[in-house]
Amino acid sequence: MAAFGTEFTAQMVTSHYQNGQWSALDVVPVAPFSLHPATHVLHYASECFEGLKAYRRSNGDVHLFRPDRHIVRMGNSAAQLLLEIPEPAALEQSLHMAVQAVIDEIPAYPGSLYLRPTLLGVEQDIGAAARPSQKVIYYVLTSPVGDYFAGGLKPLRVKVEDQAMRSTPGFGAVKTGGNYAAAMRQVVRAQQELGADQVLFAPGGDVQETGAANFMLIEGDELLTKPLDGTILPGVTRDSILTLATDAGLKVTERDFTVEELLDRAPRGEAALTGTAAVLTPVGTFLYNGQEISVGDGQMGSWSSRLREQLCAIQSGEAPDVHGWRVPLKAG
Ligand SMILES: Cc1ncc(COP(=O)(O)O)c(C=O)c1O
Repeated sequence: MAAFGTEFTAQMVTSHYQNGQWSALDVVPVAPFSLHPATHVLHYASECFEGLKAYRRSNGDVHLFRPDRHIVRMGNSAAQLLLEIPEPAALEQSLHMAVQAVIDEIPAYPGSLYLRPTLLGVEQDIGAAARPSQKVIYYVLTSPVGDYFAGGLKPLRVKVEDQAMRSTPGFGAVKTGGNYAAAMRQVVRAQQELGADQVLFAPGGDVQETGAANFMLIEGDELLTKPLDGTILPGVTRDSILTLATDAGLKVTERDFTVEELLDRAPRGEAALTGTAAVLTPVGTFLYNGQEISVGDGQMGSWSSRLREQLCAIQSGEAPDVHGWRVPLKAG
């Protein structure tokens, strides 16, 4: 299977906003958009998106994983960007339609169908820097994805960045392209200079998250992670792992913590990144101020393995869905 993000199905769902209303959802062929060079999103980044997955169980049934959470998050992103967005019920329907349209192309677990709902401001007006776009396109692109860990699960080398910010105040919880643009320079620099895989942003020493995943530390019977205070994305995987951790008897602490505390505790504990694409990935080494600090013995720890396996078993359909996270696909 092609690299994540490069292979798409041939059909997507769209809806267009203009003259104050949304058109009916439509299944259309995936094809290039024709955008005028003055299009709002190209200049003023009027854009937000989501990323979630649909899974095929071994009995053939298909379900979406926690679509309600992604719909709420997209609504919050759009509100912060003053972008028009279809009603939650239409968003929900669009996800089911997008999966239904390509149902035969959903790979068996551990593969899945990745859904990328996206909103773009498409009014042609470069004078509208301080005004929301009056025209918006909504679409749900889908991509069959293979086993993210086909090459084995290798603990990551993560640079701890205590100066630069990943996002800006008010936008940390918003899933918009601008945040990724802001973080990219730091990530590329850490890769080039240190051979790091990711950057953990901790501006002013406040440990937040990486460029595209939430972060957690586990030591003894405690799981520690930053609270949802608006500086980090409210990850759906984060929430799922915290729930499973509580179920498993771990004490989940959501509070601010510093780089100093992190690096002091890491050698005795476990650290992990969470997100839809990779589920849970262990951190093996932190890179900070010229030092390499090993997390535990540098390998994936037992809590990380256990929580990851539990979440995967729910996503694949193998384990009972006690929290109601699997949403069966509605008939088209
Ligand atoms: C900045 C950022 N944080 C966290 C996450 C993880 O969120 P989720 O678990 O909902 O995929 C993502 C990925 O979507 C992200 O881009």
